[in-house]
Amino acid sequence: MKNNHQLKYNSGSMAIHWLMLVLLIAVYLCIELRVLYPKGSDARDAIKNWHFVLGMGVWFLLLVRIWLRLKYQAPPIHPQPPKWQRVASQMVHLILYGFLFLMPVLGWLTIGFEGKTINLLGVHLPNVLLPNESFAEITEELHEWLGIAGYWLIGLHATASLFHHYIIKDNTLKRMLP
Ligand code: HEM
Ligand code: HEM
Repeated sequence: MKNNHQLKYNSGSMAIHWLMLVLLIAVYLCIELRVLYPKGSDARDAIKNWHFVLGMGVWFLLLVRIWLRLKYQAPPIHPQPPKWQRVASQMVHLILYGFLFLMPVLGWLTIGFEGKTINLLGVHLPNVLLPNESFAEITEELHEWLGIAGYWLIGLHATASLFHHYIIKDNTLKRMLP
């Protein structure tokens, strides 16, 4: 791992961090807005398919992100926060990484166990799983539960970084801004 004497995250990690925020907003919007269209309609299927495609995008971007994170250390925060805050933020980051990894996997398993496929710009990606209704129910339930937990988790993370910026006035957020 490269030592990071810089004041900011490397530009690749920064770009992926903010791109993922935009992607996650789109992923959440696609699934929440499905209720605007009647069940079984083409529009509802299309918006749900975008949820699947963009959600898988999150997973592939995460792989690049983890690679970059292993290559470069996180830049230090000035002034240094107390130890409990550093440990708490590392734990939240770890949980966020787990969330970004598990959500697409659980979604992909749900689609597979339901015997459905993802339509990537006209090409149906092959389904390698055997349909299994009870497995699909379990993975879907976990996916939905974790999806709701995600709102709170991301909210907590964003609030903490704004708290550091506006109240504590350290460089936590500036390190993540170009
Ligand atoms: C980080 C990525 C993802 C997030 C944050 C996410 C989040 C969510 C949320 C919030 C719901 C709605 C739960 C509810 O009903 O209240 C949902 C439903 C669902 N998601 Fe995802 N999801 C992600 C990725 C994926 C992927 C990659 C797939 C499939 C390949 C997928 C498949 C599904 C399915 C099948 C449903 C149920 C839709 C229905 O009601 O028919 N998700 N997701
Ligand atoms: C408005 C929204 C957001 C703000 C203001 C924000 C801000 C920040 C800041 C300031 C950092 C650096 C924190 C530090 O090193 O202690 C950071 C890191 C991080 N953010 Fe966000 N973030 C936002 C959204 C998100 C979202 C949506 C995710 C993914 C679900 C996310 C995942 C992460 C992760 C995993 C790290 C740790 C990076 C590392 O490994 O060092 N963030 N964020």
